Amino acid sequence: MELLTIALAKGRLAECAVELFEKCGIDCAPLKVETRKLVLHDAQKKYRFIFVKPSDVPTYIERGVADIGVVGKDTLLEENKDVYEIADLGFGACRMCVAGYRQQKGAITNSVLRVASKYENVAREYYARQGITVDIIKLNGSVELGPVIGLSDVIVDIVESGRTLEANDLSVLEEICKITARLVVNKVSMKTRYDEIKPLTDKIIATVEAGIK
Ligand code: PRP
Repeated sequence: MELLTIALAKGRLAECAVELFEKCGIDCAPLKVETRKLVLHDAQKKYRFIFVKPSDVPTYIERGVADIGVVGKDTLLEENKDVYEIADLGFGACRMCVAGYRQQKGAITNSVLRVASKYENVAREYYARQGITVDIIKLNGSVELGPVIGLSDVIVDIVESGRTLEANDLSVLEEICKITARLVVNKVSMKTRYDEIKPLTDKIIATVEAGIK
């Protein structure tokens, strides 16, 4: 039988995710060693871990090459893949927001609001719900530059500490939703490998709940 594969989002969520698996009794020491390897195992070689770009986690899970994943709700909303979202893990808390200058530097002369974002779909849906026509400009990072340099009027992005906005004289104008890390599972694996997945996800959920209380 193949090992269960767990996909973790590289970056801000990976460390907390590894810490959570450790609290669940999995010896994750090999995952903490500096390496360029993308496929790693826990010390007991019970699980296979892959470290992937956050936006790719839902793809690996939907395609079934990974059974379980830890990824931000922001990514799930944006990627909209067919996966089971089975728990809110609580960490990685931030907010999806519209941000910009509180007082526009000059009158907005363009008739259509220009919105720069890594979250193209989230932004489109947010404005569509309000019946507002917008021009979405897809960026891949440093989105705050949009209003600063005049590429866009506002941005749709995640705000954690608020420091990036502050450093660029921008403010939160509207909050779209709250974001945290989520536990996701492939739909087929959930059926075919239920006996292996259920105890692990139950343990993860119990560990998270114990930490909250
Ligand atoms: C994210 C986000 C903001 C920043 C918010 O970017 O897109 O830029 O973090 O965090 P803060 O409120 O704590 O300042 P990330 O660090 O992922 O880098 P990126 O701009 O390259 O996407």
